[in-house]
Amino acid sequence: MYIRTATIEDLDAIAQVEAECFPSAEAATAAEFKGRLEHYADHFWLMFDGDLLIAFVDGFVTDQRDLTDDMYEKAEMHDENGDWQMIFGVNTIPEYRRSGYAGELIKRAIEDAKNQGRKGVVLTCKDRLVHYYAKFGFENEGVSDKSTHGGVTWNQMRLTF
Ligand SMILES: CC(C)(COP(=O)(O)OP(=O)(O)OC[C@H]1O[C@@H](n2cnc3c(N)ncnc32)[C@H](O)[C@@H]1OP(=O)(O)O)[C@@H](O)C(=O)NCCC(=O)NCCS
Repeated sequence: MYIRTATIEDLDAIAQVEAECFPSAEAATAAEFKGRLEHYADHFWLMFDGDLLIAFVDGFVTDQRDLTDDMYEKAEMHDENGDWQMIFGVNTIPEYRRSGYAGELIKRAIEDAKNQGRKGVVLTCKDRLVHYYAKFGFENEGVSDKSTHGGVTWNQMRLTF
């Protein structure tokens, strides 16, 4: 297993993993990932088993404190000098789950954000994953009124350095 950041060459593999992990109402499309990779490929953390992409974490950087739904589509909002590393997606393909891979990627994203001088990391998640992200130091700020995509209730969680 090894971790690296992305290039545009990873587009198809990333879209495939996303489609395996999320229902279509919540999944980002290949077109959205293309925009994201063009603007912030260095803020994708990919884990491979040989040539196979098995998990990834991604999200851009911004001075905005709160995660809003428009961020998912508007990759051009990425600000390389921003304060907050957002996390838009955490995915592990089903056959590789419960082995700590997503956890390793989350820890790497946190470490990189710290080394880059950010203020912290922000994500949204469903109720059932609040305890999972709390293990990495994220604090639940409650239900987000700024993110409703997929018709789901999202909790905003923040790790401040
Ligand atoms: C959520 C998701 C990313 C987790 O990926 P993962 O690689 O299985 O994550 P981890 O292995 O780090 O942790 C998952 C669970 O396995 C447990 N685990 C980790 N290593 C383990 C091991 N060696 N043996 C047994 N269990 C282990 C973790 O403690 C965690 O359990 P918990 O939920 O009770 O805390 C994955 O299930 C997924 O892609 N789901 C669909 C998409 C999704 O919902 N993403 C989150 C967006 S909010």
